[in-house]
Amino acid sequence: MKQSSYSGFFKLSPEERLREVTEFCNLTSEEQEILKDPNCLDMDKADHMIENVIGRFALPLGVGLNFKINGKDYLIPMVSEEPSVVAAASNAAKIIRESGGFTTSNTGSVMIAQIQITDVADPHFAKIVIEENKEKIKTLCNEKDPILVKFGGGMEELEVRIIESIIGKMVIVHLKVNTLDAMGANAVNTMAEAVSPLLEELTGGKAFLRILSNLAIHRLARSRVKIKKETIGEDIVDKIITAYAFAEADPFRAVTHNKGIMNGIIPVVLATGNDTRAIESGAHAYASITGRYTSLTTWEKDKNGDLVGTIELPMAVGLVGGATKIHPTARVAVKMLGVKSAAELGEIIASVGLANNFAAIKALATEGIQRGHMSLHARNLATVAGAKGEVLELIVAQMIKEKNVRLEYAQELLKKFNSK
Ligand code: MEV
Repeated sequence: MKQSSYSGFFKLSPEERLREVTEFCNLTSEEQEILKDPNCLDMDKADHMIENVIGRFALPLGVGLNFKINGKDYLIPMVSEEPSVVAAASNAAKIIRESGGFTTSNTGSVMIAQIQITDVADPHFAKIVIEENKEKIKTLCNEKDPILVKFGGGMEELEVRIIESIIGKMVIVHLKVNTLDAMGANAVNTMAEAVSPLLEELTGGKAFLRILSNLAIHRLARSRVKIKKETIGEDIVDKIITAYAFAEADPFRAVTHNKGIMNGIIPVVLATGNDTRAIESGAHAYASITGRYTSLTTWEKDKNGDLVGTIELPMAVGLVGGATKIHPTARVAVKMLGVKSAAELGEIIASVGLANNFAAIKALATEGIQRGHMSLHARNLATVAGAKGEVLELIVAQMIKEKNVRLEYAQELLKKFNSK
């Protein structure tokens, strides 16, 4: 069985790392070229992705190591501008794999489309009439996407809500659509528009907004870990729980705690060409679903004194359509993961979020975040100063040794080393 754990991976050159990844993920030479080339997204493709295109924007793609999820090893493609995120994910995954790794599940792939119906004189009566017409609504929806239906998806359920608003009562119809391996925005928006005339006819109202909800509560990804107390020490188990308790209780802390989770989640969502904003907004809405914004993860001590952690959040990601299929690097990222379904991808993403959260609160609860950040920060500054290779390593080592991590000092050291 292939192992995603390496030691000294960070010491390799990017080419050597790519060779390791190629072997693990069976990348073709064309796929390797795509990873190496920031211009692999050609202007023509870029011009078809968004509007008013004038260029392309490259970001580093790193590899999250050591992930064992449901007994299988994965290398995780992560795109981020933030130093320390990939290292934190990999370090956490290393500790977690010592206790067996991540165990995941999901609640399916049902998305919600909302139709807002205004000007309904008798909302309670209208609600019942809509519910009575569920099969007719379902037929109209599913006619719009026969392929989705053929593969076992399509509209499944209907929910009708009456909400109070500042302009009075309105009837809100939720179409619950199984979108399988698609993120589903196109499918559900088309269905919502298609059934609107019928809903107007049934209610005598006006079908106003027709759009998916990013609060995808029927598409939750879950991951859990058990970290044996011996691997981190009993005192650290307690410290992590104290750190988590703060996030659980206080929204000012929970938002930063959840940002640390997003540090792991968004890089994988982005690398695989998925919609980062959909995941981000869904996550934060889910974090406040009880009416009080709180942590997306939980950390507890089990009866043996081991640390147990969970994450659960909406995960509307797809494998078909959109940038996932168009962007060459996103296609390679999906190949790297070797995922068979969008649900599997979502579970991996949730696991990376849990890993980054563990890494962040463990660091905060022990040595603080700055120590680990310092060498990465020094490396960044030395790079900005223009240092390369061996000289860069010397500058980083000196800045850390002298606890003088500033750009001016990196520049001064570069001058000194270059003149030698
Ligand atoms: C920094 O990118 C993320 C953290 O602030 C997360 C946290 O506070 O839990 C370290």
